[in-house]
Amino acid sequence: MFRFMPEAASEIAPEVDKINYWILDLSLFFTVVIVGAMIYFAIRYKQKGDAPHETPRIEGNNILEVIWTVVPTIICIFIAYYGIAVYGKMRAVPTDAMEVNVTASSWKWDFEYANGKKTTHEAYIPVDKPVKFLLTSKDVLHSFFVPSMRVKSDAVPGMYTYVTFKPIKTGDYQIFCTEYCGKDHSAMLAKLHVLPQEEFEKWLEDRSVEEAQAAMSPAKLGATLYTQKGCNACHSLDGSRVVGPSFLKIFGRKGKLDDGTEYVADENYIKNSILNPMSQIVEGYVGQMPSFEGQLSDDEIGGIIAFMKTLDGSAPVEEAAPAEEEKVDLSKLSPEERGELLYKSKTCFTCHSLDGTGAAEGKLGPTWKGLYGRKGKFNDGTEYVADDAYITGAIKNPTQNIVEGYNPVMPQLGLTDDEISDVIAFIKAQKE
Ligand code: CUA
Repeated sequence: MFRFMPEAASEIAPEVDKINYWILDLSLFFTVVIVGAMIYFAIRYKQKGDAPHETPRIEGNNILEVIWTVVPTIICIFIAYYGIAVYGKMRAVPTDAMEVNVTASSWKWDFEYANGKKTTHEAYIPVDKPVKFLLTSKDVLHSFFVPSMRVKSDAVPGMYTYVTFKPIKTGDYQIFCTEYCGKDHSAMLAKLHVLPQEEFEKWLEDRSVEEAQAAMSPAKLGATLYTQKGCNACHSLDGSRVVGPSFLKIFGRKGKLDDGTEYVADENYIKNSILNPMSQIVEGYVGQMPSFEGQLSDDEIGGIIAFMKTLDGSAPVEEAAPAEEEKVDLSKLSPEERGELLYKSKTCFTCHSLDGTGAAEGKLGPTWKGLYGRKGKFNDGTEYVADDAYITGAIKNPTQNIVEGYNPVMPQLGLTDDEISDVIAFIKAQKE
């Protein structure tokens, strides 16, 4: 009864489950026996009518006392013994374990392999090989939790902790942050990909993405980031006004901020605009840009500045294609997974959160959390229900019906009908 543990994908998992189920079954057994006896006695010995009812005086029973002291003691020793034994096994790091460095920060997981390969949000390990994730944190307490592997440990700033396990089947497993760490704690997720040995080695040796990035000129890197980080949702390259000022001829531009002070768009001004966007709002614009603090390295900011310097109007700019995504077989994914990919690749995330934050927190669009089926008002006062037809309309004609409290800033995405239904499947999964 109550066998609800998630998939067991590591060597230790069945042992953890065994103890867990013993304790669960024991607890269930004693709950039923004790509460059952209470209820039975309450009914059996209930005072009937007004008849006088004398409670007998009972002095105690030595045999009973011994039984209910000795039996639970033995059970507790038994549980403690197996608990400690399995815990010891769980913490013992095999000498041949592959080490992966994990750095937690608000709100992402970064992984680094022995050969220098780095990833974010995605970890790859070979099947049937012990692995050790060495954990630390850059800012606050986080906690690394892989339910399918039955391992969990805090990631603590200023010290190292670890989890170790041996995966026994290939597949993709969810990694959670399981220590409340601030606004996007619930979105601090990562995927653990357990691959066959050869496939893992191929992945580990493949440095094409890093090499391409390292070989990029700063301006090219900036152009890539422009689409990758979703800057394009609010800043045009052709001089047209979207939500924020256009990037065309931005470098060296002079103007006024909304408090009347004058600015010159030099390197420091641009860097500050990226890290503390609300501290300097250009006159005539509404301040609503999120900070990219911690999301862009100094090199990347330098790249964006270099990219802006190229936008002097001397040559037409081509929008850089987003960095080549890993080739995935879309037909093998569920509609929900394909919708999630679109959420990322079309940079919906710049304006639509998944954690319930919206206009009040400076987001430009309504959150997708609990969106499906939501009822509300448009800014012309008519009511809507967020069903399939509504979402399709919102994607196809984004500026037609605007939800109360928001501005018509969403661009045309040109999605196909199939892509729209994938996005809807993803939205449906974002339950309240
Ligand atoms: Cu990191 Cu919760």
